[in-house]
Amino acid sequence: MRILSLLALAFMCVFAACSDSELVSMKQLSSGAKLYEQHCSNCHQADGSGLALLIPPLQQADYLTNNALLLPCLIRNGAAGAMEVNGKIYNQKMPGNAKLSDAEILDICRFVLQKFPEKPISLEDESLTLALQKCDSVGN
Ligand code: HEC
Repeated sequence: MRILSLLALAFMCVFAACSDSELVSMKQLSSGAKLYEQHCSNCHQADGSGLALLIPPLQQADYLTNNALLLPCLIRNGAAGAMEVNGKIYNQKMPGNAKLSDAEILDICRFVLQKFPEKPISLEDESLTLALQKCDSVGN
């Protein structure tokens, strides 16, 4: 009986791991990686370490982890004004990416949220799409 429940547990773990990775397909990740390199790495660096006090890090950034759902809007509209990341204040302008399609922005989100937080963040496509629609309707 005990062995059976252990087996069941092991099976559930494998199953959970599978469905989690299915949330983020390899295709989205590799497209996101390419787009990150083209549109983000100049500033945030390929390893997400940022640049001194000018560009905040993405690597293990508390801001990113705490505001994962703001990422789609941030990529589309950019950012301005003071922002605290890992205890340091940044205050430079990040340009928006008006030319990227919704799908491209979602791919970048997937890649960034898998690669840089201490623990990968998997959000549903619907939540990210909704966040993107909302930021468009506010029109900022
Ligand atoms: C021209 C340089 C530049 C580019 C290109 C750029 N950023 Fe930024 N990014 C910044 C700056 C500067 C800030 C801080 C903005 C502020 O102070 O309001 C920032 C802030 C952020 C933040 C929130 C703070 C943090 O570190 O968690 C995230 C997330 C982010 N950028 C992701 C991206 C992604 C993804 C891309 C590519 C689509 C990108 N950025 C492209 C300069 C840039």
